[in-house]
Amino acid sequence: MCGIFGCVLKDGLAAPIIHSSLKLLEYRGYDSAGEATINEGKLYLKKDSGKIADIHEKFNLDELPGKIGIGHTRWATHGAPSQVNAHPHTDCLNQIAVVHNGIIENFEELRMELIDKGHVFVSKTDTEVIPHLIEENLKRGLDFHQAFKDAVKRLKGSYALAVISTFEPEKIFCARKESPLIVGLAENGSFFSSDIPALLPYTKNIVEVFDEEAVILTHQEVELRKLEDWSPVTRKPKTISWTIEGAMKKGYPHFMLKEIHEQAFSLKEALRVQEKYLDLLVTFLDRSKQVFLVASGTSYHSCIAASYVLSKLARIPVYPVVASEFIEQFGNSVNIDSTILAVSQSGETADVLRAVDHARFKAATILGLTNVLGSTLTRVSRAYICQNSGPEIGVAATKTFTAQIAVLTLIALRLAKLRGKISQDEMDYLHQKLHELPKIIEKILETQEENVKRLAHKYKDSKVFYFLGRGVNVATALEGRLKLLEIAYIPSIAYPAGESKHGPISLIEPGFPVIFVCPKGETYKATINNIMEMKARDALTIGIIDETDEEARKYLDDYIEIPAGVPEILSPIPYVVPLQLFAYYMALEKGLDPDKPRNLAKSVTVI
Ligand code: AGP
Repeated sequence: MCGIFGCVLKDGLAAPIIHSSLKLLEYRGYDSAGEATINEGKLYLKKDSGKIADIHEKFNLDELPGKIGIGHTRWATHGAPSQVNAHPHTDCLNQIAVVHNGIIENFEELRMELIDKGHVFVSKTDTEVIPHLIEENLKRGLDFHQAFKDAVKRLKGSYALAVISTFEPEKIFCARKESPLIVGLAENGSFFSSDIPALLPYTKNIVEVFDEEAVILTHQEVELRKLEDWSPVTRKPKTISWTIEGAMKKGYPHFMLKEIHEQAFSLKEALRVQEKYLDLLVTFLDRSKQVFLVASGTSYHSCIAASYVLSKLARIPVYPVVASEFIEQFGNSVNIDSTILAVSQSGETADVLRAVDHARFKAATILGLTNVLGSTLTRVSRAYICQNSGPEIGVAATKTFTAQIAVLTLIALRLAKLRGKISQDEMDYLHQKLHELPKIIEKILETQEENVKRLAHKYKDSKVFYFLGRGVNVATALEGRLKLLEIAYIPSIAYPAGESKHGPISLIEPGFPVIFVCPKGETYKATINNIMEMKARDALTIGIIDETDEEARKYLDDYIEIPAGVPEILSPIPYVVPLQLFAYYMALEKGLDPDKPRNLAKSVTVI
């Protein structure tokens, strides 16, 4: 999730405007940035890795000539943060510059094709294929409009992109598919941006750009067209009333709620992880005699879920380990035949890096799953996957949790296939169900958010909560508990439901709230028995259940419905969403700031 911005002005310099707007988009990505402008038929470009302030210090991002320009602040997904991988990217002759937010899935085949035609690539990014594709089309004699259109049509994946060129020095060409893009109209010119914060200093008049649409901006007007047949689109501008801070949160009161609502998108992006990296990790895992999934906090909970999925699908036993305990627990047994799959959204958690260091010292193979390309974990890993969730600002991890489980499930499916443990039909079925989850999450947010809000209000005076789940949803129960205690400060317990009768059930008394994660599936009957056990002791029972589940409703005081058809093995992804919302609304009930819980940091870089 990068930030792109650009403008074409009637008068004045574009660069200072682009520079200050990129700073407003920096929460979208902050590992590198750059700008390009056109002036008197020449392209000017400045870019580097690092924070915008440092790049400005070095290169002065206000000093590029010209009334037209584009800019980018990066959240690396393909190609580690570096000057050469920073945007804008250009063609061989530096006449075309492109900024892009999203993932071009077929970039490797396009790249090979263009290299065969003599194009020279300088970066490791997916984006660089775009200016070369346009250049190749121009070489074929197409005019710039046609060259742009044909190039975009060849792109697979998600994109919001903008192009300037010496061929059309008064125009910016943009296109959008899945990634966000907004256009702004003002007296002095036209603007485009990944989202509204960056536009607000210049205009409150915005025009939405829908999926599969292109926009051509001049300083007088913007022209919308359908990508499919290039037919013109007319759309009325809207007036925005948000403040800049409000806009960064897309109108949500907190980053946490915004990030919970971004999960359908971040899940789609996670499912776009490149097959070659999945295969690489799977090859290492397949060779390994012992696999440890090492992480902290929420990431550890995705490792617990993954241990069930890997065992059920690939028939491989793996050890989910709390990072801060790894050395004590397995320090003496880890060896050259061991593989550590370290999971960390920040890629900087000290407990994880310390465990990895110890294992490396014992010659174990280190693999990584992270959300931050260029983080320390990516540098100490033999192979790693970047989960593409974009920056997560709220301290409480939400979208990165569901994305982690999605990527770990893709790994388990491939390993299972490689080992001949599942049929192609089973593989296709689970893949299809995985790709249905973004829509299911959207439906949960649409239909259940008010219900969860009501329940948070109903239970706001409860002094303690008990979370129970079985099988893979032990992880969901643990994660629900962590969210509630970390942002609403309510002491909470979470247990595998079957373990409850071995002790914790002694806590239960009339009115004691117990939350059950209870999807249909192999563990269903046993979980219903647990609900009845609690009901028999007058506990207040709250269930996260399948919308078609008439049985469970009989024993529940309250329930939250999940759309039907989610296989149990994938259920932590949608079933955790109501628990994230419950914690969020409970924090509000308590007058707390969900984004900045006390005593916590987004990335724990101390042991
Ligand atoms: C989760 O909401 C917390 N922010 C915390 O437990 C977090 O998951 C943990 O510190 C691990 O962070 P990481 O994924 O960046 O390594």
